[in-house]
Amino acid sequence: MKKKVFLTRTLHDFALKELKKRYQIQVHSGKIPIPQSKLRSKIKEVDGLICFPYDIINKETLDLATNLKVISTYSVGFDHIDIKYAKKKKIRVGYTPEVLTDATADLAFALLIDLLRRVSEGDRIIRGGKWKVIYGAYDYVGLDLQGKTLGILGLGRIGGAFAKRAKAFDMKLVYHNRKRVSKTKEKRLGVKYVSFEKLVSQSDIISIHVPHTRQTEHMFNMKTFKKMKKSAFLVNTARGKIVNEKDLAVAIKKKIIAGAGLDVFESEPIRNNHPLVKLQNVVLAPHIGSSTKETRAKMADITVKNLNLGMSGKKPIYSVGY
Ligand code: DGY
Repeated sequence: MKKKVFLTRTLHDFALKELKKRYQIQVHSGKIPIPQSKLRSKIKEVDGLICFPYDIINKETLDLATNLKVISTYSVGFDHIDIKYAKKKKIRVGYTPEVLTDATADLAFALLIDLLRRVSEGDRIIRGGKWKVIYGAYDYVGLDLQGKTLGILGLGRIGGAFAKRAKAFDMKLVYHNRKRVSKTKEKRLGVKYVSFEKLVSQSDIISIHVPHTRQTEHMFNMKTFKKMKKSAFLVNTARGKIVNEKDLAVAIKKKIIAGAGLDVFESEPIRNNHPLVKLQNVVLAPHIGSSTKETRAKMADITVKNLNLGMSGKKPIYSVGY
Protein backbone atom coordinates (compact mmCIF):
# COMPACT_ATOMS: atom_id res chain seq x y z
CA MET A 1 0.00 0.00 0.00
CA LYS A 2 1.40 3.39 -1.02
CA LYS A 3 1.65 6.04 1.67
CA LYS A 4 -0.67 9.03 1.46
CA VAL A 5 0.48 12.55 0.59
CA PHE A 6 -1.77 15.58 0.42
CA LEU A 7 -0.98 18.83 -1.42
CA THR A 8 -2.92 21.94 -0.43
CA ARG A 9 -2.64 23.14 -4.04
CA THR A 10 -1.09 21.89 -7.22
CA LEU A 11 2.62 21.94 -8.09
CA HIS A 12 4.62 21.57 -11.34
CA ASP A 13 3.78 18.52 -13.49
CA PHE A 14 7.26 17.02 -13.02
CA ALA A 15 6.84 17.24 -9.25
CA LEU A 16 3.40 15.59 -9.31
CA LYS A 17 4.76 12.84 -11.56
CA GLU A 18 7.60 12.21 -9.16
CA LEU A 19 5.24 12.09 -6.19
CA LYS A 20 2.79 9.74 -7.95
CA LYS A 21 5.54 7.17 -8.47
CA ARG A 22 5.93 6.73 -4.72
CA TYR A 23 2.71 7.82 -3.05
CA GLN A 24 -1.00 7.92 -3.25
CA ILE A 25 -1.43 11.67 -3.78
CA GLN A 26 -4.39 13.96 -3.41
CA VAL A 27 -4.31 17.58 -4.56
CA HIS A 28 -6.71 20.22 -3.28
CA SER A 29 -8.28 21.97 -6.24
CA GLY A 30 -10.89 24.29 -4.75
CA LYS A 31 -10.66 27.63 -3.05
CA ILE A 32 -7.14 28.95 -2.36
CA PRO A 33 -5.96 28.98 0.36
CA ILE A 34 -7.52 25.68 1.27
CA PRO A 35 -10.27 26.12 3.89
CA GLN A 36 -8.96 25.26 7.34
CA SER A 37 -11.76 22.68 7.81
CA LYS A 38 -10.61 20.72 4.73
CA LEU A 39 -6.95 20.96 5.70
CA ARG A 40 -7.84 19.61 9.13
CA SER A 41 -9.86 16.71 7.78
CA LYS A 42 -7.03 15.74 5.38
CA ILE A 43 -4.21 16.03 7.89
CA LYS A 44 -5.92 13.33 9.96
CA GLU A 45 -5.33 10.66 7.35
CA VAL A 46 -2.06 11.43 5.55
CA ASP A 47 1.60 10.52 6.04
CA GLY A 48 2.98 13.56 4.24
CA LEU A 49 1.81 17.10 3.57
CA ILE A 50 2.94 19.64 0.98
CA CYS A 51 1.79 23.12 1.89
CA PHE A 52 2.17 26.80 0.98
CA PRO A 53 2.72 30.01 2.97
CA TYR A 54 -1.02 30.73 3.39
CA ASP A 55 -1.87 27.39 5.01
CA ILE A 56 -2.04 27.85 8.75
CA ILE A 57 -0.71 24.74 10.47
CA ASN A 58 -1.06 25.46 14.15
CA LYS A 59 -1.17 23.33 17.29
CA GLU A 60 -4.85 22.45 16.88
CA THR A 61 -4.30 21.30 13.29
CA LEU A 62 -1.17 19.33 14.19
CA ASP A 63 -3.02 17.62 17.03
CA LEU A 64 -5.35 16.03 14.49
CA ALA A 65 -2.49 14.36 12.64
CA THR A 66 -2.06 10.74 13.60
CA ASN A 67 0.31 9.43 10.89
CA LEU A 68 1.96 12.62 9.70
CA LYS A 69 5.72 12.26 9.32
CA VAL A 70 6.64 15.32 7.34
CA ILE A 71 5.42 18.75 6.26
CA SER A 72 7.19 20.13 3.22
CA THR A 73 6.46 23.78 2.57
CA TYR A 74 6.93 25.32 -0.86
CA SER A 75 8.46 28.47 0.64
CA VAL A 76 11.43 29.82 2.54
CA GLY A 77 9.10 31.32 5.15
CA PHE A 78 7.66 28.94 7.74
CA ASP A 79 5.80 31.34 10.00
CA HIS A 80 2.55 29.57 9.01
CA ILE A 81 3.68 26.40 10.78
CA ASP A 82 3.98 25.89 14.54
CA ILE A 83 7.56 24.61 14.30
CA LYS A 84 8.01 24.07 18.04
CA TYR A 85 4.92 21.94 18.27
CA ALA A 86 5.76 19.97 15.13
CA LYS A 87 9.14 19.23 16.69
CA LYS A 88 7.47 18.06 19.87
CA LYS A 89 5.31 15.73 17.81
CA LYS A 90 8.39 14.54 15.88
CA ILE A 91 7.02 15.75 12.58
CA ARG A 92 9.77 16.84 10.20
CA VAL A 93 9.44 20.22 8.48
CA GLY A 94 11.22 20.99 5.21
CA TYR A 95 11.44 24.39 3.50
CA THR A 96 13.11 25.92 0.41
CA PRO A 97 15.85 28.48 1.18
CA GLU A 98 18.89 29.15 -1.06
CA VAL A 99 17.20 28.39 -4.38
CA LEU A 100 15.09 31.55 -4.10
CA THR A 101 17.75 33.88 -2.71
CA ASP A 102 18.68 35.59 -5.98
CA ALA A 103 15.13 35.88 -7.29
CA THR A 104 13.94 37.53 -4.07
CA ALA A 105 16.95 39.87 -3.87
CA ASP A 106 16.32 40.84 -7.52
CA LEU A 107 12.70 41.67 -6.79
CA ALA A 108 13.61 43.75 -3.73
CA PHE A 109 16.08 45.64 -5.90
CA ALA A 110 13.50 46.09 -8.64
CA LEU A 111 11.17 47.71 -6.09
CA LEU A 112 14.00 49.96 -4.90
CA ILE A 113 14.84 51.16 -8.42
CA ASP A 114 11.17 51.58 -9.25
CA LEU A 115 10.60 53.74 -6.18
CA LEU A 116 13.58 55.98 -6.77
CA ARG A 117 13.06 56.30 -10.54
CA ARG A 118 9.24 56.27 -10.47
CA VAL A 119 8.87 53.67 -13.22
CA SER A 120 5.45 52.30 -12.22
CA GLU A 121 4.18 55.80 -11.53
CA GLY A 122 5.25 56.83 -15.05
CA ASP A 123 3.55 53.77 -16.50
CA ARG A 124 0.32 54.77 -14.74
CA ILE A 125 0.68 58.35 -16.01
CA ILE A 126 1.01 57.21 -19.63
CA ARG A 127 -1.74 54.59 -19.48
CA GLY A 128 -4.00 57.13 -17.79
CA GLY A 129 -3.45 59.52 -20.73
CA LYS A 130 -1.82 62.05 -18.41
CA TRP A 131 1.62 62.45 -20.01
CA LYS A 132 1.50 66.12 -20.94
CA VAL A 133 4.89 67.66 -20.15
CA ILE A 134 7.94 66.37 -21.97
CA TYR A 135 11.47 66.66 -20.62
CA GLY A 136 10.59 69.33 -18.02
CA ALA A 137 13.40 70.19 -15.64
CA TYR A 138 11.31 69.24 -12.61
CA ASP A 139 8.89 66.76 -14.11
CA TYR A 140 8.82 63.10 -13.14
CA VAL A 141 12.27 63.49 -11.60
CA GLY A 142 13.43 60.66 -9.43
CA LEU A 143 16.53 60.16 -7.29
CA ASP A 144 20.00 58.72 -7.87
CA LEU A 145 20.76 55.41 -6.23
CA GLN A 146 24.46 56.20 -6.14
CA GLY A 147 25.58 57.58 -2.77
CA LYS A 148 22.30 56.85 -0.97
CA THR A 149 22.45 55.07 2.36
CA LEU A 150 20.73 51.73 2.17
CA GLY A 151 19.74 50.11 5.45
CA ILE A 152 19.42 46.34 5.28
CA LEU A 153 17.46 44.77 8.10
CA GLY A 154 18.53 41.13 8.28
CA LEU A 155 21.79 40.07 6.68
CA GLY A 156 20.96 36.43 6.00
CA ARG A 157 21.03 34.83 2.57
CA ILE A 158 18.59 37.23 0.88
CA GLY A 159 19.84 40.33 2.73
CA GLY A 160 23.40 39.45 1.66
CA ALA A 161 22.42 38.93 -2.00
CA PHE A 162 20.58 42.24 -1.88
CA ALA A 163 23.70 43.96 -0.47
CA LYS A 164 25.76 42.54 -3.35
CA ARG A 165 23.41 44.15 -5.86
CA ALA A 166 23.35 47.49 -4.02
CA LYS A 167 27.15 47.59 -3.83
CA ALA A 168 27.31 47.44 -7.64
CA PHE A 169 25.17 50.61 -7.67
CA ASP A 170 27.64 52.44 -5.40
CA MET A 171 25.26 52.75 -2.49
CA LYS A 172 26.44 53.13 1.14
CA LEU A 173 25.41 50.02 3.00
CA VAL A 174 24.51 49.74 6.66
CA TYR A 175 22.83 46.72 8.21
CA HIS A 176 21.28 45.48 11.38
CA ASN A 177 20.99 41.85 12.30
CA ARG A 178 20.08 40.04 15.52
CA LYS A 179 23.67 38.84 15.55
CA ARG A 180 26.47 40.82 13.95
CA VAL A 181 27.96 38.83 11.05
CA SER A 182 31.69 38.05 10.75
CA LYS A 183 34.16 40.78 9.81
CA THR A 184 35.03 38.79 6.67
CA LYS A 185 31.40 38.80 5.54
CA GLU A 186 31.06 42.51 6.36
CA LYS A 187 34.15 43.26 4.30
CA ARG A 188 33.08 41.06 1.39
CA LEU A 189 29.67 42.72 1.21
CA GLY A 190 30.95 46.21 2.02
CA VAL A 191 28.45 46.67 4.86
CA LYS A 192 28.68 48.45 8.20
CA TYR A 193 26.89 47.16 11.31
CA VAL A 194 24.63 49.67 13.10
CA SER A 195 21.99 49.48 15.82
CA PHE A 196 18.36 49.21 14.72
CA GLU A 197 17.82 52.81 15.85
CA LYS A 198 20.71 54.05 13.70
CA LEU A 199 19.56 52.00 10.72
CA VAL A 200 16.14 53.61 11.02
CA SER A 201 17.39 57.18 11.41
CA GLN A 202 20.30 57.12 8.90
CA SER A 203 18.90 55.22 5.93
CA ASP A 204 17.55 56.73 2.74
CA ILE A 205 16.01 53.36 1.95
CA ILE A 206 15.34 50.51 4.36
CA SER A 207 14.87 47.00 3.02
CA ILE A 208 13.44 44.28 5.24
CA HIS A 209 14.96 40.78 5.11
CA VAL A 210 14.05 39.26 8.46
CA PRO A 211 11.51 36.49 9.11
CA HIS A 212 8.13 37.20 10.64
CA THR A 213 8.26 36.28 14.32
CA ARG A 214 6.64 37.57 17.50
CA GLN A 215 9.66 39.89 17.85
CA THR A 216 9.50 41.32 14.32
CA GLU A 217 5.72 41.69 14.07
CA HIS A 218 4.84 45.37 13.47
CA MET A 219 8.48 46.33 13.99
CA PHE A 220 7.68 49.10 11.51
CA ASN A 221 4.90 51.17 12.99
CA MET A 222 4.19 54.87 13.42
CA LYS A 223 6.86 55.16 16.12
CA THR A 224 9.46 53.74 13.71
CA PHE A 225 8.27 55.83 10.76
CA LYS A 226 8.60 59.00 12.84
CA LYS A 227 12.26 58.17 13.44
CA MET A 228 12.97 57.68 9.72
CA LYS A 229 14.06 60.49 7.40
CA LYS A 230 11.16 62.28 5.77
CA SER A 231 12.78 61.47 2.43
CA ALA A 232 13.17 57.74 3.22
CA PHE A 233 11.57 54.76 1.50
CA LEU A 234 10.69 51.35 2.86
CA VAL A 235 11.00 48.11 0.86
CA ASN A 236 9.41 44.91 2.14
CA THR A 237 9.80 41.55 0.43
CA ALA A 238 9.86 39.52 3.66
CA ARG A 239 6.46 39.22 5.34
CA GLY A 240 3.58 41.70 5.48
CA LYS A 241 3.03 41.46 9.21
CA ILE A 242 6.44 43.00 9.95
CA VAL A 243 4.94 46.34 8.89
CA ASN A 244 1.85 47.96 10.37
CA GLU A 245 0.17 48.81 7.07
CA LYS A 246 -2.38 51.18 8.52
CA ASP A 247 0.44 53.24 10.05
CA LEU A 248 2.46 53.01 6.83
CA ALA A 249 -0.36 54.43 4.72
CA VAL A 250 -0.81 57.33 7.17
CA ALA A 251 2.97 57.93 7.32
CA ILE A 252 3.21 58.18 3.53
CA LYS A 253 0.06 60.24 3.16
CA LYS A 254 1.23 62.72 5.83
CA LYS A 255 4.75 62.79 4.29
CA ILE A 256 6.35 61.37 7.43
CA ILE A 257 8.24 59.09 5.02
CA ALA A 258 8.49 59.30 1.23
CA GLY A 259 7.10 55.99 -0.02
CA ALA A 260 7.25 52.22 -0.03
CA GLY A 261 7.80 49.22 -2.28
CA LEU A 262 5.86 46.19 -1.12
CA ASP A 263 5.71 42.60 -2.29
CA VAL A 264 4.04 41.27 0.86
CA PHE A 265 1.01 42.39 2.84
CA GLU A 266 -0.67 41.80 6.16
CA SER A 267 -3.54 40.17 4.33
CA GLU A 268 -3.12 38.85 0.78
CA PRO A 269 -4.36 39.63 -1.76
CA ILE A 270 -4.43 43.27 -0.61
CA ARG A 271 -7.88 44.86 -1.05
CA ASN A 272 -8.31 47.15 -4.02
CA ASN A 273 -9.66 49.88 -1.71
CA HIS A 274 -6.77 49.57 0.79
CA PRO A 275 -5.33 53.05 1.57
CA LEU A 276 -1.88 51.93 0.31
CA VAL A 277 -3.30 51.12 -3.13
CA LYS A 278 -4.43 54.74 -3.51
CA LEU A 279 -0.98 56.25 -2.98
CA GLN A 280 1.17 57.13 -6.01
CA ASN A 281 4.50 56.82 -4.23
CA VAL A 282 3.88 53.19 -3.34
CA VAL A 283 4.94 50.37 -5.65
CA LEU A 284 3.01 47.15 -5.20
CA ALA A 285 3.81 43.61 -6.31
CA PRO A 286 1.59 40.53 -5.80
CA HIS A 287 3.97 38.47 -3.60
CA ILE A 288 6.28 37.45 -6.45
CA GLY A 289 9.65 37.49 -4.65
CA SER A 290 10.48 33.92 -5.63
CA SER A 291 8.29 33.86 -8.70
CA THR A 292 10.55 33.18 -11.66
CA LYS A 293 10.15 30.14 -13.89
CA GLU A 294 13.56 28.81 -12.90
CA THR A 295 13.28 29.47 -9.17
CA ARG A 296 9.77 28.09 -8.77
CA ALA A 297 10.85 24.86 -10.52
CA LYS A 298 13.85 24.55 -8.19
CA MET A 299 11.54 25.14 -5.22
CA ALA A 300 9.22 22.35 -6.41
CA ASP A 301 12.19 20.03 -6.77
CA ILE A 302 13.41 20.76 -3.23
CA THR A 303 9.88 20.48 -1.86
CA VAL A 304 9.59 16.94 -3.26
CA LYS A 305 13.08 15.96 -2.09
CA ASN A 306 12.38 17.32 1.40
CA LEU A 307 9.15 15.35 1.52
CA ASN A 308 10.80 12.13 0.33
CA LEU A 309 13.47 12.37 3.01
CA GLY A 310 10.95 13.06 5.74
CA MET A 311 8.74 10.19 4.58
CA SER A 312 11.64 7.81 5.00
CA GLY A 313 12.36 9.10 8.49
CA LYS A 314 15.31 11.27 7.47
CA LYS A 315 15.97 14.96 7.90
CA PRO A 316 14.92 17.05 4.86
CA ILE A 317 17.71 18.78 2.90
CA TYR A 318 16.53 22.06 4.38
CA SER A 319 14.96 21.33 7.71
CA VAL A 320 13.58 23.30 10.65
CA GLY A 321 12.82 21.92 14.05
CA TYR A 322 12.98 18.12 14.29
C1 DGY B 1 8.58 32.38 0.62
O1 DGY B 1 9.13 31.44 0.02
O2 DGY B 1 8.35 32.35 1.82
C2 DGY B 1 8.25 33.57 -0.19
O3 DGY B 1 7.52 34.48 0.51
C3 DGY B 1 7.55 33.18 -1.45
O4 DGY B 1 7.78 34.18 -2.42
